[in-house]
Amino acid sequence: MTFSEKLKQYIERTDYALNNYLKEETIPEYLQSSMSYSLFAGGKRLRPCILLATNELLGGFNDNAMPFACALEMIHTYSLIHDDLPSMDNDILRRGKPTNHIVFGEGQAILAGDGLLSYAFEIMLRFLLSKSEPNFINAAYTIARAAGVTGMVAGQCLDLLTEGQKTADEALLIEIHKTKTSAMIQAASTAGALCANSAEGIVKAMCAFGAQLGLLFQITDDILDVIGETSTLGKTTGKDERAGKLTFPSIYGINGALLYAKKAADAALCELQPFGKDAWFLQELVESIMNRKS
Ligand code: IPE
Ligand code: IPE
Ligand code: MG
Ligand code: MG
Ligand code: MG
Repeated sequence: MTFSEKLKQYIERTDYALNNYLKEETIPEYLQSSMSYSLFAGGKRLRPCILLATNELLGGFNDNAMPFACALEMIHTYSLIHDDLPSMDNDILRRGKPTNHIVFGEGQAILAGDGLLSYAFEIMLRFLLSKSEPNFINAAYTIARAAGVTGMVAGQCLDLLTEGQKTADEALLIEIHKTKTSAMIQAASTAGALCANSAEGIVKAMCAFGAQLGLLFQITDDILDVIGETSTLGKTTGKDERAGKLTFPSIYGINGALLYAKKAADAALCELQPFGKDAWFLQELVESIMNRKS
């Protein structure tokens, strides 16, 4: 199977499961519609794919990893809805469509995000009620920590608090990227390993892999905001500079940022080395993120 075929398979399985989750609860139509709008707007499903691929590499049963993959994607989608709000990045385009608050209004967009976040935890806990094994509990805990007060939420705070900062502070920049983006990607690879009941050393390696992949992902996001195309990205470009965000290109320029991206990609690949050819999908995923246009 080729990389794109395998990627398509993970995405289709995730979409199928997400669709079922949104249908199986009697979520009132007025809330379901705004949640579904963003969840099915055409996201790349990167985090579920990483979780499922890591899980498969380590011999896990993807059906048991799927609730965690879906929860992660719901939390990610909520973070984007809130990220786009006028009080945050004030964006009107996401995943090639008008942002949630443009369509449903600010209040409903905040609640669509809240709904996705709460439902993500409900899904994981429902699974744990039927399979309360320590490794699954640990996977849920990993996702909770990544999403929360020392992870993505803290990173989003820092991202806003440092807007307009002119001094080039590398440590601060890395801290922002690690928390706002890397944490959730790291949770994907770590939870994938935990759901496969992997040994501690393997979980640690996958955690280190995800941290580098997440850093790579946000550096390329920053680069694409400068040199990418709105039509391929599905979001407005040039926003970071206008908002005075602390980014890799703002400090090091595009070429400097590319060097950092390459360093993170190499570090991610290095963590995969012990798995040899078995890790082919994740290896190609690293390359595809390094070269991504969307
Ligand atoms: C966008 O994430 C936000 C960042 C963390 C950079 P993605 O680029 O994964 O967004 P979707 O899910 O494909 O829309
Ligand atoms: C967002 O980073 C990270 C999140 C946690 C949502 P950005 O603000 O750079 O993401 P985009 O460029 O709007 O997708
Ligand atoms: Mg932002
Ligand atoms: Mg943004
Ligand atoms: Mg961005």
